[in-house]
Amino acid sequence: MAMAMAPSSSRVISLLLCLLFTLISHITAQPSFLYHFCMNDKGNYTENSAYHTNLNTLLSTLSSNTEVDYGFYNFSQGQGSDKVNAIGMCRGDVKPESCRSCLNDSRVLLMHRCPNQKEAIGWYDNCMLRYSNRSIFDTMEPDPTYFLWVGINATDMNQFIQVLRNLLESLRTNASSGDSLKKYAAGSTAGPSFQTIFALLQCTPDLSEQECDDCLVRAISNINDRCYGLTKCRIGKPSCNLRFDTSPFYDSTADASPSSPSKESPPPPVTNTNATSTKGKSNSTGIVIAVVVPIFVVLVLLISVCIFIRARKRKRSFHNHNDTEVDNEIEPIDSLQFNFDTIRTATNNFSEENKLGRGGFGPVYKGKLSNGREIAVKRLSMNSGQGDTEFKNEVLLVAKLQHRNLVRLLGFCLERKERLLVYEFVPNKSLDYFIFVDTWHLSI
Ligand SMILES: *[C@@H]1O[C@H](CO)[C@@H](O)[C@H](O)[C@H]1NC(C)=O
Ligand SMILES: *[C@@H]1O[C@H](CO)[C@@H](O)[C@H](O)[C@H]1NC(C)=O
Ligand SMILES: *[C@@H]1O[C@H](CO)[C@@H](O)[C@H](O)[C@H]1NC(C)=O
Ligand SMILES: *[C@@H]1O[C@H](CO)[C@@H](O)[C@H](O)[C@H]1NC(C)=O
Ligand SMILES: *[C@@H]1O[C@H](CO)[C@@H](O)[C@H](O)[C@H]1NC(C)=O
Ligand SMILES: *[C@@H]1O[C@H](CO)[C@@H](O)[C@H](O)[C@H]1NC(C)=O
Ligand SMILES: *[C@@H]1O[C@H](CO)[C@@H](O)[C@H](O)[C@H]1NC(C)=O
Repeated sequence: MAMAMAPSSSRVISLLLCLLFTLISHITAQPSFLYHFCMNDKGNYTENSAYHTNLNTLLSTLSSNTEVDYGFYNFSQGQGSDKVNAIGMCRGDVKPESCRSCLNDSRVLLMHRCPNQKEAIGWYDNCMLRYSNRSIFDTMEPDPTYFLWVGINATDMNQFIQVLRNLLESLRTNASSGDSLKKYAAGSTAGPSFQTIFALLQCTPDLSEQECDDCLVRAISNINDRCYGLTKCRIGKPSCNLRFDTSPFYDSTADASPSSPSKESPPPPVTNTNATSTKGKSNSTGIVIAVVVPIFVVLVLLISVCIFIRARKRKRSFHNHNDTEVDNEIEPIDSLQFNFDTIRTATNNFSEENKLGRGGFGPVYKGKLSNGREIAVKRLSMNSGQGDTEFKNEVLLVAKLQHRNLVRLLGFCLERKERLLVYEFVPNKSLDYFIFVDTWHLSI
């Protein structure tokens, strides 16, 4: 028994090391954007050019400005062909301090992601930042558009869509009739199947009422393109954005007064620790806490997972048959580390058809092993600079899955640059819930 366990324990340990390694490589990274565009066809600037200097100055001015308290920043810097224009906008319910911190993060990340493009745009949950050498103020720009959605259909789709449309129509009027400081509306309504529908619309407030309305009409009609009948979706455009969800995601107390209590984090969080909602507090204690706390939490979790797996193994060896627990699938412990080629074959070379969705740390694929066993494979994207929050959520999720015994982590694969997590595939609701809980699909 003990001998049989030795190799599996060492595999468990390598899994933990793999997870820890990934965590550490992510933890220093800036939280990632929901989405960003580097406009490759709008011209490039060179390192240390006047444009580059102006851009740097402009963005630091913008993110350190303490006079603006309504969440909209439209600044320019420089003259003639080196003039840079920038717009920063925070979600209507975000406090000025969080707003600045979000824009500061965006400033750093956007220039990192788009190192020489004259024009770029990036979205966080709490803010958007864009810059260009063109004049971008007072201009309605409905493109480019990105979509983020979770692939869960509403139970009563037709009724859901009807209720959602009515809510959005009412919010559209409220948002576009906002003033030149804020064009924002958020609200909720009772939907079918005892669900509440929450929705939010916002335009950059430099638009006229008509322009804002036009932008929102387009965004609402885009729902049909990707988000028809779904319960969670976000649509972002340079000039306006839309989001709806069956869980609350905005601060409803913020409507009355611009400054109000803190915010929730981007994806439906697995836990509600303070660490998950720090989308960019960057003072030094903040950094220390942001680094130390997740490492500690994750270590504790990893150790618990390890102990749990051992306990499970041991338990099984005591009750060989007829266990009341669903304990008849332990053999994967002995094959915790999967061969990359096995997984590649199982997922049909990670084909689009096999793709189940996209999580915080990369796409999820359905696969079938040669023994017929169905699996779900999460392919961690190492270079995408994903944040530690997503990774922590992933690990928490794994721990939770192990604990609830619903969707089990069968193993991992660590080969070349690939880091894969292999889950048991359960074709029912629990899979939707556990694998898709943070799985936002993306498209442009
Ligand atoms: C912006 O830069 C591009 C490429 O360098 C140039 O073609 C365009 O004329 C510039 N636009 C303005 C308004 O200066
Ligand atoms: C700007 O640079 C990017 C690579 O950083 C390149 O893909 C793009 O073609 C360049 N655009 C122009 C107009 O030169
Ligand atoms: C902005 O971000 C930079 C780099 O992440 C950091 O050093 C700086 O302290 C931040 N500034 C503010 C005002 O948060
Ligand atoms: C959602 O509904 C559409 C039909 O409108 C269907 O094609 C799709 O498979 C459904 N998705 C899920 C996850 O049930
Ligand atoms: C920036 O926006 C404010 C409020 O919408 C407006 O009053 C101001 O004229 C704008 N500044 C520029 C440079 O467009
Ligand atoms: C739109 O604004 C009106 C008046 O301020 C308010 O009564 C109504 O509830 C708002 N609609 C929504 C959906 O928030
Ligand atoms: C989260 O942080 C706030 C202030 O930053 C604090 O008041 C609150 O107690 C913290 N919550 C938890 C669960 O630690």
